[in-house]
Amino acid sequence: MWNNITACSLWRLSPSFMSSRIQILTPLFIRNYKDFCKDRQTIWTLQNSLCQVMKKTVPTLKCNMFPHCFASNKARYGQYTKTFPVLDGSIPSVCEHVFEENLRNSEACIQRYSELLCKVSKGGGENAILRHTQRNKKLLVRERLKMLLDDETFLELSPFAGFDLPYGNVPAAGCLTGIGKICGVWCVFMANDATVKGGTIYPISVKKQLRAQHIAIQNRLLSVYLVDSGGAFLPLQAELFPDQSHGGRVFYNEAIMSAMKIPQVAVVCGSCTAGGAYLPTMAEETVIVDKIGSMFLAGPPLVKAATGEDISPEDLGGASMHSKVSGCVDHFASSEKEAFECVRNIILTLNYELPPEETLEYDDPLYSAEELLGLAPRGYNYTLHIKLILSRLIDGSRFQEFKAEYGTTLVTGFAHMEGHLVGIVANNGELTHDASLKGSHFVQLCSQRSIPLLFLQNTAPHASEPTSLSQAEDHTNRLKAQASMMAAVACAAVPKITLVIGGCFGNESYAMCGRSFDPNFLFLWPNARVALVDSRHISTFPQPGDDDCTGDDSGLKYLKEKLDEESSAFHSSARLWDDGIILPQNSRKVIAQCLTIMKQQKYQIASRQQYPVIRM
Ligand code: COA
Repeated sequence: MWNNITACSLWRLSPSFMSSRIQILTPLFIRNYKDFCKDRQTIWTLQNSLCQVMKKTVPTLKCNMFPHCFASNKARYGQYTKTFPVLDGSIPSVCEHVFEENLRNSEACIQRYSELLCKVSKGGGENAILRHTQRNKKLLVRERLKMLLDDETFLELSPFAGFDLPYGNVPAAGCLTGIGKICGVWCVFMANDATVKGGTIYPISVKKQLRAQHIAIQNRLLSVYLVDSGGAFLPLQAELFPDQSHGGRVFYNEAIMSAMKIPQVAVVCGSCTAGGAYLPTMAEETVIVDKIGSMFLAGPPLVKAATGEDISPEDLGGASMHSKVSGCVDHFASSEKEAFECVRNIILTLNYELPPEETLEYDDPLYSAEELLGLAPRGYNYTLHIKLILSRLIDGSRFQEFKAEYGTTLVTGFAHMEGHLVGIVANNGELTHDASLKGSHFVQLCSQRSIPLLFLQNTAPHASEPTSLSQAEDHTNRLKAQASMMAAVACAAVPKITLVIGGCFGNESYAMCGRSFDPNFLFLWPNARVALVDSRHISTFPQPGDDDCTGDDSGLKYLKEKLDEESSAFHSSARLWDDGIILPQNSRKVIAQCLTIMKQQKYQIASRQQYPVIRM
């Protein structure tokens, strides 16, 4: 009966009547989904569905409840996708000098990127590596990952986190995180690098671990922790312990993730002291490696200091003790190799349904990805048309543009990335009133159709200042339209990926799904600049009492230098404002990999139970 009420009559019903109807209509699915709806993404989906009802679209109610964002359009549409128009990606000769300038800048940025990557891959340095491998007889963290994962095609997250921070240089934040496959299942991994100050946890390490857990929650990925950590880095304890997003949050998340049916497996493959001991104890299943794995709240030196008793790490909290006596771990392994085999076997018991082996057929872009280096803008004024970049990223350079003639400073439309359908929102100038309305419309369209969104962000470094009343009015209208787009982006119940290809400046970056708008992944090109304003656009620095706003030259110089330094992609990545810097020519691969990873959640039983798995 309900379904027979016409859209027209629905529209006329009052919201309170509607909400009572929804309660009558939906008890079944509300009851079924009530529990797992506590996780935010699902709440958005539910809210979105209810909104659809309020907007007279009853038939969409049920289908929006399921994360079918990735239903293989290939199977259904097959050859038809090849009819999207082909973009002309040839670089106009008048733009060649800009291309050359950009290329030179990109090469310099990439050199810095490569040098840094090389530094980071050496972890805590030669002496620490020798201590780790020769004296402590442990495998290096990358060797461990090689043994654990199916292959080496894992996606490493934020390798530059911890670089050149005020409290020092902490290579890779002392902890590798990323996403790789184990027994065919995409998993988030978190692995301490004990060559960096004994794997101790710095504030940036906590941030990196929390980000990895957030990715696991948002994308419903099981997690594997390789724990080899001396616990909190004591000199910075005040920045590690008391606050909501400090160390304890990692353990809190473990329980919440377990209750959400996101399994977590830990391997104790080193000394795990204090906080380092809670992580494996709270995991759902834990393996410990004989001789090298140990867990205690206070190690032998503290026992000696407190009781005068001499005790070996093995007797105090070694593999035999924890697997036979305390029950803090569940599996004893005689070597690291055996421990990683054990993890693989545990994963086979998770009763996961795997995505079918599908080989998506797709065409490569018609233009070389290497040319992206000349299109990556060295500054906002060096920006070339966004379609030149698009034509080097998407399958067959084919793009089904949406609202091509309206609000042209934003380009929106559909394309495929290695066979995956995506909705693309790309800056091509300032986010004007029309461009924002178009963005808002398109984002809602993708949400309605369950198509993941890709934002290519290159926002303007400054808002132009109004010189007349009518311009001021324009600005107010723009503000209103941008606010609509921000709301549409925030509430779009589809996975989102943001790639900053140039500027990530000011408020427009929010509407383009900046970090605070919670994209599933956010990457930067090495040329990217991230700041509230661009140093190159500041001309005065007024001081208190400077009534004529002429500014102070030395203050201005200092501010510009500071802004310049703080807006580099490396500064951003060191602080984990993103998930890593990726090279322009690798972007297509990385985005396609993220789309595949996000697709896995469709195959997981995404229900939330009331309790986490608790170790006795
Ligand atoms: N805070 C700050 N620095 C720490 C630390 C901590 N909790 N634990 C270790 N370090 C530092 C050491 O001072 C050393 O620094 P250096 O290289 O500049 O000399 C470095 O980390 C490596 O430690 P080291 O003891 O030489 O290496 P190891 O491989 O023999 O042992 C640990 C590593 C972690 C097992 C051992 O250092 C340890 O037990 N640390 C104390 C852990 C602890 O009590 N934590 C309590 C946290 S609340």
